[in-house]
Amino acid sequence: MRRLSRKKALGLVKELDAFPKVPESYVETTASGGTVSLIAFGAMVLLAFFEFFVYRDTWMKYEYEVDKDFSSKLRINIDITVAMRCQHVGADVLDLAETMVASDGLQYEPVVFELSPQQRLWHRTLLLIQNRLRDEHSLQEVLFKSVLKGSPTALPPREDNPTQPFNACRIHGHLYVNKVAGNFHITVGKAIPHPRGHAHLAALVSHETYNFSHRIDHLSFGEEIPGIINPLDGTEKICSDHNQMFQYFITIVPTKLHTYKISADTHQYSVTERERVINHAAGSHGVSGIFMKYDISSLMVTVTEQHMPLWQFLVRLCGIIGGIFSTTGMLHGLVGALVDIVCCRFKLGAYKPKKVHPLDTHLNNHTPFFTENNKH
Ligand SMILES: *[C@@H]1O[C@H](CO)[C@@H](O)[C@H](O)[C@H]1NC(C)=O
Repeated sequence: MRRLSRKKALGLVKELDAFPKVPESYVETTASGGTVSLIAFGAMVLLAFFEFFVYRDTWMKYEYEVDKDFSSKLRINIDITVAMRCQHVGADVLDLAETMVASDGLQYEPVVFELSPQQRLWHRTLLLIQNRLRDEHSLQEVLFKSVLKGSPTALPPREDNPTQPFNACRIHGHLYVNKVAGNFHITVGKAIPHPRGHAHLAALVSHETYNFSHRIDHLSFGEEIPGIINPLDGTEKICSDHNQMFQYFITIVPTKLHTYKISADTHQYSVTERERVINHAAGSHGVSGIFMKYDISSLMVTVTEQHMPLWQFLVRLCGIIGGIFSTTGMLHGLVGALVDIVCCRFKLGAYKPKKVHPLDTHLNNHTPFFTENNKH
């Protein structure tokens, strides 16, 4: 009984065989079939090869969500050179809560405003990259991926010893501020805290020395990641007037970056800028200086580097190989059938004179049209 059911099961499985064996003697190979097989095989190898490159490649996935982190501090990294003496300028941050943030993290370093030839070259390269970044957004992905491989984007040190006196002040370092909108500014005079905000002691500085020409070598928010180029990096502004106001309106987008090399909390930003000459007589009021108003976007971007999983790669490979195999088989069959039809219908008699009965030949050589004509 058991043996019987086993036999039955075996028989059932045999019935299900989707690959029935054709006896060797029935298999016929043709030249056209061989050519098609070769072509199909070539196509398979080529496509599988390309598919492997797709598998090797990675891409960036962007996700957006509301930023729920409201308690942490925001770090501002800054490196800016102003064409004024250090004792004449002061930098500080005033945030929306009207609290003055201690700017102890910043160092004031007397430097020469003009760049050395090497630095100039570096600066020009940076500007070129910035221009490309504005046109081609996918470049940013390459930068994300090459993070850490890249070197810091800070200006390299001078290679020469300048003989001219220091005429500028490099303000660099980092500050921690509250995660609310604020205003980072550099104006004349050192800031002195004041019960209602703060004031700058500007009375001692002559207007003739005002020169807010500046170069931003680095401005970023959050963790400092080498290799990322921020929109304002490399900005250089030369002013022709002593009383000039530069305004940068910055919107910061918190960005979490997860690549195969690093995971980091950083911030991207977009910026619009405005500059104008302060002339009280002409009705253009204000304070000369450099003002950076920043605001933090409530949306957070998560950028994740992704990769095709191995199983997906294998499934796609099977799809390619099986697909080409069956498609070429079908095409071959179809073309063969078409050729047969065309030959048999129109050219059979002309091309393949067969030894048949004379009466048949006579009939075959004439199309119905002619035979009908002959009747008339
Ligand atoms: C400010 O300094 C820059 C760089 O040294 C110079 O090119 C520019 O002419 C100066 N502007 C004024 C108004 O003095």
